[in-house]
Amino acid sequence: MPILIAPSILSADFARLADSVALVEQIGGADLLHIDVMDGHYVPNLTIGPAIIKALRKSSKLFFETHLMIANPDLLLEDFIEAGSSRIVVHPQTCPHLHKTLSKIKSSGIQAGLAINPSEDIDICSFEYLGELIDSITIMSVNPGFPAQKFINSSINKISNLKQKLAQIGLNHIQIEVDGGLNLQTAPSVIMAGANILVAGNAVYNEPNPLKAIQELKNLSK
Ligand code: DX5
Ligand code: ZN
Repeated sequence: MPILIAPSILSADFARLADSVALVEQIGGADLLHIDVMDGHYVPNLTIGPAIIKALRKSSKLFFETHLMIANPDLLLEDFIEAGSSRIVVHPQTCPHLHKTLSKIKSSGIQAGLAINPSEDIDICSFEYLGELIDSITIMSVNPGFPAQKFINSSINKISNLKQKLAQIGLNHIQIEVDGGLNLQTAPSVIMAGANILVAGNAVYNEPNPLKAIQELKNLSK
C-alpha cells in the first residue's frame, strides 16, 4: 500500500481553518485530512464539532477522516455522517455495542475505523468478528487529547503485531494508520513496521513550510 499523509488540523490556525485545509489540499499533496474531535470527557480537551466539519466540507474535496475522541459517539454518529465525514474512527471502549456502531457507519456509505490507545492491546476487540466493517485501524502513538506530544516507542511493536495479525486472519484490506508524535525522526520506523497512513499535525502545521513538510514525510517511503 502507498504511504498516505493525513495532516491533522488540530495544529492548524483555528481562526483560518478553511485556508489551512486549502493549503494542504491544493498545493500541499495531502492524501486525506485528519479531524480530531474531542469532548472534554473522554479526553481532556475540547475541539471541533459537526458544524465546523460541515462548513469545511463546502470548500474541500479531501477525504475527511473524523477521529472521534468522545464519550457515547453513538449519540452523535448521524451528525458527523451528515456533516460530510468520509471515514469515522471510534475508540472501541467508547462503544458498548461496537458491531452495531460500525454497521451504522458503514451502512451510511462511508468508511469506518478503530483507534487503539497506547495502553490497549490490539486484541481489545476481535477483528475476526468485525472484518468487513473495518477499513482502517489507528494505532495511537500518544495518549489522545493534545497535539505535539512525544511519540511512544512501544507503538512500533504494536504496529508489527497488528500487521502480522491482519495477514494471519486474511484482513489485508485494512489500512494501518499511526496517530501522534510523528515527524521525520519517528516516521521511518512506523513505516518499516507496516503502517501506511501517517497522521501529522505538529510536524506539518507548525513547520515554516507545511508543504515541504508533507513532501518530506512522503519521501521517507521512497
Ligand atoms: C491526539 C490526536 C492527534 C494529534 C496528532 O489526540 O488524535 O491526531 O493531532 O498530533 P501531532 O502530529 O501533533 O502529534
Ligand atoms: Zn487523531
